[in-house]
Amino acid sequence: MIYVKMIGHNYIFELKEIIFQYFHKDSIKFLHEEDCFNVGRDYLIIIAIEKKYDYYDVYTVIEIEGKEITKSKEQIPNIINSEKEVLYKLKVTLYNAMKSGFGHILPWGILTGIRPSKIVHKLIDQGYDENKIITTLNNHYLLSKEKTDLLINVVKNQRDIIYPIKKKSISLYIGIPFCPSRCIYCSFLSSVLEKDKGILKEYLDSLFFEIKEISKYIQKNNLKIETIYIGGGTPTILNQEELNSLLYLIAQEINIKNIKEYTLEAGRPDTINKKKLKLSLQYGINRISINPQTMDNNTLIKIGRNHSSEDIIRAFNLAREVGFNFINMDLILGLPGEDKSRINNTLAHIKSLQPENLTIHIMSLKRGSKLSENINNYNFDQGKNILEMQETTRSFALNNGYQPYYLYRQKYMLGNLENIGYCKNGYRSIYNILIMSEKQTILGLGAGSVTKVFFPEEDRIERFPNVKDVRLYNNRIRGIIDKKLLLLDSLYSKNY
Ligand SMILES: C[S@@+](CC[C@H](N)C(=O)[O-])C[C@H]1O[C@@H](n2cnc3c(N)ncnc32)[C@H](O)[C@@H]1O
Ligand code: SF4
Repeated sequence: MIYVKMIGHNYIFELKEIIFQYFHKDSIKFLHEEDCFNVGRDYLIIIAIEKKYDYYDVYTVIEIEGKEITKSKEQIPNIINSEKEVLYKLKVTLYNAMKSGFGHILPWGILTGIRPSKIVHKLIDQGYDENKIITTLNNHYLLSKEKTDLLINVVKNQRDIIYPIKKKSISLYIGIPFCPSRCIYCSFLSSVLEKDKGILKEYLDSLFFEIKEISKYIQKNNLKIETIYIGGGTPTILNQEELNSLLYLIAQEINIKNIKEYTLEAGRPDTINKKKLKLSLQYGINRISINPQTMDNNTLIKIGRNHSSEDIIRAFNLAREVGFNFINMDLILGLPGEDKSRINNTLAHIKSLQPENLTIHIMSLKRGSKLSENINNYNFDQGKNILEMQETTRSFALNNGYQPYYLYRQKYMLGNLENIGYCKNGYRSIYNILIMSEKQTILGLGAGSVTKVFFPEEDRIERFPNVKDVRLYNNRIRGIIDKKLLLLDSLYSKNY
């Protein structure tokens, strides 16, 4: 057991993310300041701030069996300028002590947030030049050189899409939270449709109602929709008639001719056919996602995808034949039993398919997923070679004309790494950049989708999540819409 004791402050919430990157959360016990530590053989991490005569000592000490093995210390002058400064010093001493005590660095240093690119955008907005940004990332946030370079490249690939900020430009997310089967690593909101067929019709009725009401608001306030993303779950699980009525309704309500990007997630090849693809193209969808995760058939069975790599190739070729020239493929590194040779096999397939976007996810052990709840049933090595696998995909991407254009991190990712979206020249997904930058209002429609309203004058977003449970969503749809419109009014009705 690892015991952690905070002295002179109570920043458990902010600091625990760094500790969790070294040890699994179940092996950690947080002690209160007054708890005495008398456990003998275990580790004790003390993170403290202590008032001295005319300054404060901020330090982290790591002890084993009562013996100090490492200590990192910083000072703050008597007058503390801000709580932020205290927290920053606590984080630095904690990370430095963990690094020297347990021997490995964190590639993202003391950054624990899921959108590191936002920090770089902010520094640019404040007038920092590239050298100053690099120094800040390296020396202040303690990022590795590789992550600093990656982040700078990604941000350069995003600026012209995010800026200038246009208050009346928005994006739409429409969620279909149903899937043909449950993948073992997934904790997203989605029900297996087989079991829930009865509620699909009801769900579509509620969703259509929400689309109509929101579109009235959009028109009344002259808002301009830049991108639409139909995601899930697996939206192509809708049969042809259902998909047609969804896309028809959207086309009725929204002037899709002016939409810059219109994505349909067609993640599972077992839900794709020629008619659905043609229909989507006719209704203006100009980007789709067909997701192998891996091209190894044994792994595909193991992870519960219910499709083969041949199905992926067939669906991909069909999409090309129908006329899609902007296709994304998602992969996951660190799937049970996968190593560098399996990744190379997957990449060889990707090379022959040549999708315009390639999104490389790192396995994140999500609470509530089958994998994390039955971890011993899977040949899962906790990502021993995850760095090597990530490096393999990185060089593959760069050698094959892909550039990183967006990235984000999640909790419990193997190796504390990041998911990276790569694109061929001219094929950045606008929606993906906007959702990560949080500089544009994105309206989420459907159960479990999240609306983020961006207030440019205050440079902040306010979230409004729709309820996750499909039945509750159906029952409460009127109230949900009214609350969402109220939030939108707080931005749009003031000035117009
Ligand atoms: C919201 S999912 C939807 C995509 C679609 N339903 C599918 O699975 O093909 C988006 C992507 O997140 C990734 N993903 C989902 N769960 C993950 C996990 N636990 N760890 C890493 N990546 C994950 C997968 O690559 C997936 O394609
Ligand atoms: S298909 Fe996608 S959303 Fe559905 S269970 Fe699998 S990973 Fe999750």
